Amino acid sequence: MLHPVAPATHAPRFLLLYGSLRLRAFSRLLVEEAARLLQAMGGEVRIFNPSGLPLPDDAPETHPKVTELREMCPWAEGMVWCSPERHGAMTGIMKAQIDWIPLSIGAIRPTQGKTLAVMQVCGGSQSFNAVNQMRVLGRWMRMITIPNQSSVAKAFQEFDDNDRMKQSSYYDRVVDVMEELVKFTLLTRDVAPYLVDRYSERRESAEDLMRRVSQTSI
Ligand SMILES: Cc1cc2nc3c(=O)[nH]c(=O)nc-3n(C[C@H](O)[C@H](O)[C@H](O)COP(=O)(O)O)c2cc1C
Repeated sequence: MLHPVAPATHAPRFLLLYGSLRLRAFSRLLVEEAARLLQAMGGEVRIFNPSGLPLPDDAPETHPKVTELREMCPWAEGMVWCSPERHGAMTGIMKAQIDWIPLSIGAIRPTQGKTLAVMQVCGGSQSFNAVNQMRVLGRWMRMITIPNQSSVAKAFQEFDDNDRMKQSSYYDRVVDVMEELVKFTLLTRDVAPYLVDRYSERRESAEDLMRRVSQTSI
């Protein structure tokens, strides 16, 4: 099971989320830069626009923005989460998106076993509060969060008038992170279902099956 007979040959697929609704949001610009890099490395990308997404549980699951977000998840083999740091934390907008993604929908596991890269933009000096929190969140969503990460200090200085990221060590780090994300995704995507297959869940479903069999009268 660790060596699939027919490894996937399609372009690796990435979903990119950002945590701001500002018109010129640097977290969005950073995600767009990451998307260009992933495409240049042979990946396919989709970016979710969080504008209009209701707060968790403030609308039915059939809300079009919730559906849009949820439909992108099974498609993706890896994700990028990029949040601004606000008051030393990820934004509510970032967290709300993750809170709308269930751990499993029947047999579909939208995030489990998939790769994740975390990035943040700062208004001040470089800090890591948002990426640290997103690492914890990635663990909760049972994702393979890659070791490298990006934190862009004084993000307002790092993008030009065409909304492109200027050359800098921050830009080089984003390239490093995306390169690592592609490698981890190619290494793990074929075995993701096996990696998240758990003894306790197998046991639970076996017990459930036995219970149903014992209740069946012939
Ligand atoms: C209420 C508020 C709190 C903020 N807190 C922090 C912070 O704790 N650390 C930091 O580096 N920047 C902080 N900032 C600055 C934002 O991170 C910065 O403006 C960032 O570019 C916003 O992301 P966006 O451009 O994607 O909208 C704060 C901004 C606001 C409005």
